[in-house]
Amino acid sequence: MKNDYLDFYGKNKISPVNQDITDIEVHYKRRQKLYRQCGLPTVAFKGAQMLEVGPGGGHNALAPIHWGVEHIDLVEPNLTGVERIRELFSQRGISEYKYSIINEQIENYRSDKKYDIVVAEGFLGYVPNARDICKKLITLTNDGGVIAITCSDDICIFIELMKRLIGLYLTKDIKALDDKVRFLIPIFEKQLAALRGVSRPAKDWIEDNIFNPAFSNGCEYSVGDALDTFDGCDLLGGSPNIFTNYSWYKDIWYDELSDYKEQFNTKRMSFIMAGLNENKLDASESARLVEFFSKIKSLENTYEQEYDETILREIVENLKEHRPEMNVLGNDFCLVYDEIINALDEVLSGERVDMSKYPDFFKAFGRGLQYLAFMKK
Ligand SMILES: C[S@@+](CC[C@H](N)C(=O)[O-])C[C@H]1O[C@@H](n2cnc3c(N)ncnc32)[C@H](O)[C@@H]1O
Repeated sequence: MKNDYLDFYGKNKISPVNQDITDIEVHYKRRQKLYRQCGLPTVAFKGAQMLEVGPGGGHNALAPIHWGVEHIDLVEPNLTGVERIRELFSQRGISEYKYSIINEQIENYRSDKKYDIVVAEGFLGYVPNARDICKKLITLTNDGGVIAITCSDDICIFIELMKRLIGLYLTKDIKALDDKVRFLIPIFEKQLAALRGVSRPAKDWIEDNIFNPAFSNGCEYSVGDALDTFDGCDLLGGSPNIFTNYSWYKDIWYDELSDYKEQFNTKRMSFIMAGLNENKLDASESARLVEFFSKIKSLENTYEQEYDETILREIVENLKEHRPEMNVLGNDFCLVYDEIINALDEVLSGERVDMSKYPDFFKAFGRGLQYLAFMKK
C-alpha cells in the first residue's frame, strides 16, 4: 500500500513534526484542551493502557505519560521519528517501563493486547487506507475504550493548498529539498509567527505542507467518512466541536451518528478557514462547493506532476469563474479568495510574488485537521 509520508520522510531522513516544548506546561495545556474538547478529561489517562499510532518524534506522548498512563505503545514506522522519540524520552528521563516503540506501520502491527485509549493523529487524511486502519484500531480497543483520530478533507486544506502552489512555483528551479525549504523560510516564518498558539517550527511546516507529496495525493478522510467507519461506536467529542445534540438522554435508541452526518453535510464549509463563525448551508449547496474545491485540489495535483503553466491558468480561471459562489462563505473568506486570485495572477505574469501584498491570504489558515473521539460500545 503506497504511503507518501513514509516515502518522503524515509527518503529525506526527516520527521518534520517537532513541537516547541520549551515551556512544557504550555504544551500540556494545549494537549489538555484538545482532549477535553474530545470528551477526555486528563483523569481518563490515569492507569490506562494506551496506543499511539504515528507519534512522530513523541512530543504529544509526553502529556499522557505526565497524566499517568500505565503504559504507552508507540507504533512509528519512520526510523527518524523513532530515533527522535528515543532522544526525547531519554532527555526527559521517561522510564523505559512506561513505553514501547514498535518500528512498523500499523497495518503490520500484530498484537493480542487491547487498549483503553488509542490515538492516530495527523496522517489519516493523507493515506489511501484510512478506513481500514480505523477498523483495525477499533479491534485493538477495549469495550468502553476510546479511539481519537484526525480527519482532513478537500475543503479544510484549500488555503494551504494555494500557499503550497505558490511555494512550489517559487522553488521550482531549486534542486535540493534543504535549499527549497531555506528559500521559503523567510516567506512563511512570519505568517506562522503571527498565529497565536503555533508550536511547530517553520521549517517543519514548510517540509510537510509545501513539499510532502502526501498533502496533495488525492486522498481524503472526511468527518463524514469517519462517521461511517465508526458506525456502532459513540461519538464522545471533537475539535473543533461542530455537533449539537438535543436528544433526550433516556432515548437510548436515538441514531446520533446519522444526525451528526446530516449536520456535517450542512456545516462542513466552516472548515474552509480558521476563525470563521459556523457556516450552515443547504446540503446541496454545500455539496456543489465541495465538488468545486475537490476539482481545484485535483488540478493542483496535476500541476505538481509536470509544472505545466496551462494547468495553473486553468486553476485561476476556475477560481475566477466560481467567485460569485463564494459570497455565501462570508466577506472574510472572500477577501482571502480574491487575494489568492491576485497572487496567482502575479505568479503567471512572471513577477516575483511578494506575499506581503496579500495580507489576508498570508495570515489565513484552513481548519486543516478535525479531531474526533469515539467510544467503542
Ligand atoms: C504528520 S505526522 C504526525 C505526527 C504526530 N502524530 C503529530 O500529530 O504531531 C504523521 C506520522 O504518521 C506516521 N505514519 C504514516 N503512515 C503510518 C502508518 N500506516 N502507520 C503508522 N504510522 C504512520 C508517520 O511516520 C508520521 O510520524
